[in-house]
Amino acid sequence: MMKYIDLRSDTVTKPSKAMREAIASAEVGDDVWGDDPTVNKLQEKCRELTGKPAALFVTSGCMANQLAIKCHTNPAEEIIAEWDSHIIKYEVAGPSFISGVQVMPLKGIRGVMDVNEVEGHIRPDWYHYPKTSLICIENTHNRAGGTIYPLDEIKKISNLAKERNLNLHLDGARIFNASVETGISIKEYSSLVDSISFCFSKGLGAPIGSILCGDVDFITKAHKFRKILGGGMRQAGIIAAGALYALENNVERLKEDHKNARHFAEEISKLPYVEIDLDSVQTNIVIFKTKNNASVIRENLEKKGLLVTNDGVDKMRAVFHLDINSDQTEQAIEMFESI
Ligand SMILES: Cc1ncc(COP(=O)(O)O)c(C=O)c1O
Repeated sequence: MMKYIDLRSDTVTKPSKAMREAIASAEVGDDVWGDDPTVNKLQEKCRELTGKPAALFVTSGCMANQLAIKCHTNPAEEIIAEWDSHIIKYEVAGPSFISGVQVMPLKGIRGVMDVNEVEGHIRPDWYHYPKTSLICIENTHNRAGGTIYPLDEIKKISNLAKERNLNLHLDGARIFNASVETGISIKEYSSLVDSISFCFSKGLGAPIGSILCGDVDFITKAHKFRKILGGGMRQAGIIAAGALYALENNVERLKEDHKNARHFAEEISKLPYVEIDLDSVQTNIVIFKTKNNASVIRENLEKKGLLVTNDGVDKMRAVFHLDINSDQTEQAIEMFESI
């Protein structure tokens, strides 16, 4: 069987031997009873990391985002999110289904919404309008190419949300990528928002799980809705152990993924069929345009042993992660050069 170099996503990583050992030896209990020591330890660690008073271990990034929306809103209200955000693109209209809210999508630049535009879309109190109750931001921004939401822009949105009495949720699925690249701590990012979620199963390399952090009332509510959504897990320490291992061992090394992504982007930018905005390559995701049909290019690369994704006929994506080293990065570049 062909051994592929898999750049489709940073979710394709497999747990290392050491991570599997941590999983195998995890102390467990019934987390629905609050008895799982490994889940409790993970939640405690995330409280410390974010500086938020409470944390809840959940199955996935989608569950974390949807719980945040549910707990920050009431039905028939409106939330503001960037039009290409994960919440709008890939969560199956969850806000309308689970929370009964409408989404106001605002187009950002590299995933960053203009604060004046956000302000202009907060609904005045009028009989005909839904109430705006939540703003969601994404850092790093997946579909913009792993771009970092600048701290000053988050501060502006945070001040606006406070002035207008709105909640602010940060989908920080890849917040560690932003943090290692900028040197801005998770605590500082968290201090500017009412809730933050992040994923253990992306660049951090754990098999399963995300966390949602916020104040105690918010997390108490989220705990109940997690139960309704079927997210009350029993001996969940088995998966929390992978997440703890990831936090302890796989954060600093994200810089290697960024270095590989940067090198890959710079090299393929020299190819005649590739058009790439190198300024948008800020972390581990490389998105670029192709002058030839992107799905044909993807199929040709697959025949050579390289997996990437295409988005329509002129856009491609390659994501760097802990199962890709610098040699494999060189091989991926060579395969792009050879077609
Ligand atoms: C920015 C962002 N948020 C949330 C998610 C959802 O994570 P999950 O796939 O664990 O539900 C993803 C997944 O790719 C993501 O990129």
